[in-house]
Amino acid sequence: MRLELRQVTKKFGDFIANDAIDLVVEPGQIHALLGENGAGKSTLMNVLYGLYEADGGEILIDGVPQHFSGPSDAIAAGIGMVHQHFMLIDVFTVAENVVLGAEPTGPAGMLNLNQARSIVTEISSRFGFDVDPDAQVDTLPVGVQQRVEIVKALSRKAQILILDEPTAVLTPQETDELMDIMRQLKASGTSIVFITHKLREVQEVADVITVIRNGRVVGEALPTASQAELASMMVGRAVDLAVSKPPAHTGSVAVEVHDLDLVDAEGRILLDDVSFTVSKGEILAVAGVQGNGQTELAETLVGLRTPTSGSILLHRRDPRSGETIEDLAGKTVRRILSSGVGYVPEDRGKDGVVDGFSIAENLVLDQVKEPEFSRATAMDMKAIADNAARLVEEFDVRTGSFGAAVSTLSGGNQQKVVVARELSRDLEVLIASQPTRGVDIGSIEFIHSRILEQREKGTAVLIVSTELNEVTALADRIAVMYRGRFVGVVPPDTERHVLGLMMAGVGYEDALVGAEQGRTEK
Ligand SMILES: Nc1ncnc2c1ncn2[C@@H]1O[C@H](COP(=O)(O)OP(=O)(O)OP(=O)(O)O)[C@@H](O)[C@H]1O
Ligand SMILES: [Mg+2]
Repeated sequence: MRLELRQVTKKFGDFIANDAIDLVVEPGQIHALLGENGAGKSTLMNVLYGLYEADGGEILIDGVPQHFSGPSDAIAAGIGMVHQHFMLIDVFTVAENVVLGAEPTGPAGMLNLNQARSIVTEISSRFGFDVDPDAQVDTLPVGVQQRVEIVKALSRKAQILILDEPTAVLTPQETDELMDIMRQLKASGTSIVFITHKLREVQEVADVITVIRNGRVVGEALPTASQAELASMMVGRAVDLAVSKPPAHTGSVAVEVHDLDLVDAEGRILLDDVSFTVSKGEILAVAGVQGNGQTELAETLVGLRTPTSGSILLHRRDPRSGETIEDLAGKTVRRILSSGVGYVPEDRGKDGVVDGFSIAENLVLDQVKEPEFSRATAMDMKAIADNAARLVEEFDVRTGSFGAAVSTLSGGNQQKVVVARELSRDLEVLIASQPTRGVDIGSIEFIHSRILEQREKGTAVLIVSTELNEVTALADRIAVMYRGRFVGVVPPDTERHVLGLMMAGVGYEDALVGAEQGRTEK
C-alpha cells in the first residue's frame, strides 16, 4: 500500500500545527519522522488516523483520495496506530483489548472471545511475539503491552502501521526486540511510520527520514546521515550532544537511607535492604534494567509507597539550628515534597501533571499553598501567571498560551512542564526518574545542564534512568540495581560492559574480571 499526504494542514485556533505537509510512504518502507517536541508529529499522525479532521490537503492511498471521518474509516482503509500514550484497558485481558471496538460477535451477537484468542495466538506466532491472550494487561511489562497494541492493529489488517514514540518507555532490550518486529513487518510488506527521539534507532531501522520543524517539512535524510546532522536539521542549529560536567563540590551527607525494605501485598520483595547516602552537591544515578526496583525506590523515597522497614534520613539546612535530621519513612507525599524534596516521576501522566488544569496551574501544582502563590485562601493569579511566563520561556515549553490545558501540549512539552516546576523550587534533594523521557535532543541537553546546576547549588540529586548515556553524562557515582538490591556503587567512568554485567546481577569485582576476560578472548 502506498500512502501519500499532500499539503496536509491542521490548525488549533490560530495555531498551525501542520503546515502544508507532504509525505510519501512506499509499500514495505520504514519511514521515520523526526522533529522537536511540539513540531507536529503526533498531530499529523492523528490526522492520518482520522482522529483529527485536516483543515486542508489530501490523504491518498494507492493514488485514491480518502475521506476519514473517524479512526474506523482509517482502520478500514488499512491504517493502524500505536499511540504515544497507550490506549489499552488495564483490567481487561489481552484478547478482550484486541477485540475492543471491533468485536467479532457470535450467533447471539455476543463477544466471541475464543475467536479473539485465536486471532491473538495466530498473529503472535506468525511474528514470534510471545503474547498470552488470557493475561490481564496491567500484569504485563510495558514492552509486552506495546506488542498487544501492535497485535490489535494487525488483527484489523493494518498495512500501514503508525508507531508514535514506541520506544520511549522500553528497555534497551525491548527496543531491540521491537526493531526486529519492525523489520519482520516490513519484510511482510507492511509500511511503518516510526516516530522517535532516539537517533540511533532511526539510523538502525529507517529506510528514509522526514524531518519536521514548527509544523513544516524541512527536509529528508537517509539513515546514513550522522547524529549531528540529523540533530541540527531538527533543531535548526548545531546541537552539543554531550554536556560537559564540571567537577563536583560534594558537601556533607544530605540523605541517608538505611536497610530499606519494601514488600508488596502479594509478598514480593521489591526493595531488599537498600542502603546508601547522597551528599549535598552530588549526583547518584541509579542504573538497572527496568523492573529491578528503581521505580519503587524513587516512589518510596517520596512517600508514594510506605517501606516495610528501614529509614530515610533527610538532613536539612536550618538557618537557626544549623542542621535538623528527619526520618521521611512513612511520611505523606505532601509532607515530603514540602520538606524540600523535588520529584520528577517516571510516569508524568499518572503522577506528574493534572490533565484538567492549565499549564500555569501545573507549573505550581504542589506549591499553591506556599505564601508566594496564595494570599489568605485565594490563589494569587498574577504570581501564578508570572511564574508560568518565566518558566515557559526558560524551559522552552512550546505552547500558544500557558492558560491552555496542559493536555493540549505535546508529550515532550508536558515533560518539560514537570521538570520546570520541580527544578524551580528551593530544593534540598531532587529525585528524578527518567527525567528526559520523550524529550527531544536539544531539550535533553538543556535539562541535563539544569540538573548539573542544581548540583552546583548543593542539592543532593538522585537520578533513576534506564538510559546508560544519561547515567554516565550525569552521575558522580553509579548505583546498579538488580532484583531490588544495590549490586554495587561504582565510579562514573566505569565501562559500559562492566555496568552491563552488574545489571545482570554480577558484583563489581567479578564484573571487572569478566569484562577483562571478554577482552582477552576477543
Ligand atoms: N488539542 C490541541 N489543542 C491545542 N493545541 C494542540 C492540541 N494538540 C496539539 N497541539 C499543539 O500542536 C503542536 C504540535 O503538537 P504535537 O503533539 O503534534 O507535537 P509532537 O511533534 O508530537 O511533539 P512530541 O515530540 O513532544 O510528542 C504543539 O505545539 C501542541 O501544543
Ligand atoms: Mg508527539
